[in-house]
Amino acid sequence: MKFFIDTANIDQIKEANDLGVLDGVTTNPSLMAKEGISGEDNIKAHYVKICNIVDGDVSAEVIATDFEGMVREGEILAALHPNIVVKVPVTKDGIKAIKYFSSKGIKTNCTLVFSPGQALLAAKAGATYVSPFIGRLDDIASDGVELIYQIVDLYSTYGYETQVLAASIRHTQHIIQCAEAGADVSTCPLDAILGLLKHPLTDLGLEKFLSDYRKLNP
Ligand code: E4P
Repeated sequence: MKFFIDTANIDQIKEANDLGVLDGVTTNPSLMAKEGISGEDNIKAHYVKICNIVDGDVSAEVIATDFEGMVREGEILAALHPNIVVKVPVTKDGIKAIKYFSSKGIKTNCTLVFSPGQALLAAKAGATYVSPFIGRLDDIASDGVELIYQIVDLYSTYGYETQVLAASIRHTQHIIQCAEAGADVSTCPLDAILGLLKHPLTDLGLEKFLSDYRKLNP
């Protein structure tokens, strides 16, 4: 499973990238706003900055909601850097735009996916990635991880090449569950990735190894 980081924060992207296990980045308009990035030129420059840090796909979301607008914006975003993936919401115009981008060889990430039917349409349109939002489903007392199982199963039945990118991951256990469900990618907050390292027996074991060493090597 690939690991993406779900943030527009440069320090966090650098920290995750320095671990050596980062495969890409996802952003969205809320995450960009959280970093105070505004204005067309600043937004574009921020995407380029991210692409220059991470050697992997970087999702940049369109703001337009109509087909023509999405195509216009997406083409500008895709021209910024070869690693840019145009992120498009799963609406009627969004699906048309994904189909258009895929016919032009532009990579896409179909976002705001909450059902297997939406994921099927994304794959039919040729999306590179589909992003089911598991945390937001859990928030409304639904089962986000179950959706990952359903989409992975459907895609494997029909041989779709669209990669399942588990999104809206809230904690470390979600990452494990998505890996078990067969997600191709998990996009996660930095804390959730670092949480994978944590185990009290690792800390205790390391402490013991070091204290035993120090006894003979004062
Ligand atoms: C996916 O690409 C989105 O950026 C994301 O995972 C949204 O998650 P949230 O529910 O934490 O906002």
